[in-house]
Amino acid sequence: MKKRIFSGVQPSGIPTIGNYIGAMKNFAELQDEYDCIYCIVNQHAITVQQDAQQLKALTRSLAALYIALGIDPQKATLFVQSEVPAHAQAAWIALCNINIGELERMTQYKDKAAKQESVSAGLLCYPPLMACDIALYNTHIVPVGEDQKQHIELTRDFILRFNKRYGKGTDILVLPEPYIAKSGARIMSLQEPTKKMSKSDSNPKAFVSLLDEPNVIRKKIKSAVTDSEGLVYYDKENKPGVSNLLVIFSAFSGKSIAELEELYKHSGYGTFKSDLAEAIVSVLEPIQVRYHELLHSPELDCILNEGAKRANEIANATLVKMNEAIGLVR
Ligand code: TYM
Repeated sequence: MKKRIFSGVQPSGIPTIGNYIGAMKNFAELQDEYDCIYCIVNQHAITVQQDAQQLKALTRSLAALYIALGIDPQKATLFVQSEVPAHAQAAWIALCNINIGELERMTQYKDKAAKQESVSAGLLCYPPLMACDIALYNTHIVPVGEDQKQHIELTRDFILRFNKRYGKGTDILVLPEPYIAKSGARIMSLQEPTKKMSKSDSNPKAFVSLLDEPNVIRKKIKSAVTDSEGLVYYDKENKPGVSNLLVIFSAFSGKSIAELEELYKHSGYGTFKSDLAEAIVSVLEPIQVRYHELLHSPELDCILNEGAKRANEIANATLVKMNEAIGLVR
């Protein structure tokens, strides 16, 4: 039997090249070797206030993007989280087996909470929901960017604890491993290269979205923050802007950072940036064409309906096991 992969993306904005390099680029590559389940985690997105119409539109848009990126519904399962009620049901069980202190230690929670006037309980309780997304599918491997590592560690702690408390010597839930790429697991903002690139950044110049038009991509790369040295080489500490662009270039061109350094050692930032922009455009243009074909097609609904059907079957079977183990039965 193939090993199971599970991953999710929040429809809280249009995915950026950070999401692409750190996670989504790998999704299609993994689907031949593994049984892949990919989710549009809309219930995670509402941990911060969302406009209802926009959330709906972004959910559909993200589904179309997954397929445009090469997810093949014959090989992988794609579904919307809120269409599988077992996630929220299992999350309650996880919440009752994870301590508040463990949640308060999550760096993503601390960062996000610091930026908001009022913090929802959901923002604090987000990692148990994520733990259940993973646990419900008997997941072996979770491909994510570096920022999710701590959440996966908490997921593992929860699963170990659940099995110990309720398993009577057998493992009810499968213990997953994170899959984090060596390069590109943390793409930085184009404007503040010491800060993570984020799809919900209020400054659109800080990121390239997967749906940005070619001329917008060119402009954003041109205005990316570098330094005054004028030399292209990797030095994360002293040249965070250029180093980030090198990582992005490497991901979009397939060339190693060393090859790129050699190629651009006699050119200034102008040529380097315009070649980088063209590398990004050449990858994203065909994806965008496919995306626009899919967005309003009934094909997309069929894929999501089928995906939800399969996801419900797998998730409900695990939820039954969890309920029985705990004694949530008559
Ligand atoms: P989200 O929607 O913030 O991001 C989706 C994926 O993109 C990765 N990522 C990045 N990688 C590199 N550089 C960046 N700047 C960057 N920004 C984001 C994220 O690590 C992620 O892999 N909690 C998750 C969604 C989730 C999930 C799950 C993931 C919910 N349940 C279960 C895996 C398994 C999140 O907020 O991702």
